[in-house]
Amino acid sequence: MKYTSSPSRFWRSASIMICLAAVALTSLHSDEGVQYPDGFRRWVHVGTGVIMPGTNPQLKSEEGMHHVFANAKAADAYMAGDFPDGSVLVYELRDAQQTNGVISEGERRRVDVMIKDSNLYKGTGGWRFERFFGDQQTENAIHDSGSSCFQCHSKADKHGFVFSQLR
Ligand code: HEC
Repeated sequence: MKYTSSPSRFWRSASIMICLAAVALTSLHSDEGVQYPDGFRRWVHVGTGVIMPGTNPQLKSEEGMHHVFANAKAADAYMAGDFPDGSVLVYELRDAQQTNGVISEGERRRVDVMIKDSNLYKGTGGWRFERFFGDQQTENAIHDSGSSCFQCHSKADKHGFVFSQLR
C-alpha cells in the first residue's frame, strides 16, 4: 500500500483550515459590522415625545417627534429593567409638523440604536450604540464605541441604562 499524502502535508492543510476558521469567527464577532434594526416600526411602541422648535435650547438636537421601539426580548424586560442579550431598542427622531392644532410626524431625521451583548460591549454597560442619519441604513455615525452615548445613559443605571419606561 502506498501513501500519497505525507503527515507534514496533512498538518499544513490542517493549520490553514484552523486559520480560516479563526478569520470566520473574528468577522462574526467583530463589532465593526453595521446592524440596522430592520422593521423596527413593527416592534413594540414604548412611547413618544415631542419637543417643539425653540422651546428648549438644551434639546435643540432633539427637536421634533421621537418614538422609542423595543424588540420582543427588550419589551419583556422593561418591567424588571434587566435586559438580556439580544435586546434591541430604537429611538427614532422625526420632524414634527403642526397644522390646525394637530401635531404629526414628518420626515425621518435619525435612528439611534442600542443592542445588548454583555460580552462584547463591557465598557458601555453591555450595550452597543449606533446612530443612522435620515433614511440611510449602512453608515453608523458613531466612532467612539458609544462612550459619549453611554456617558449620559449611565445615569439610567437603575433601569439597565435605559431611560424610557413601558407602562
Ligand atoms: C444627554 C443624554 C443622552 C445622550 C448623550 C444620549 N441619549 Fe439616548 N436617550 C436619552 C434619554 C433621556 C432617552 C429617553 C427618551 C424618551 O423616553 O423619550 C434616550 C433614549 C434612547 C434610546 C431608547 C432606549 C432608552 O434608553 O429609553 C436609544 C436606543 C438611545 N437613546 C440611543 C442613544 C445613542 C445611540 C446615543 C449616542 C449617539 C444616545 N442615545 C445618546 C438621553 C441621552
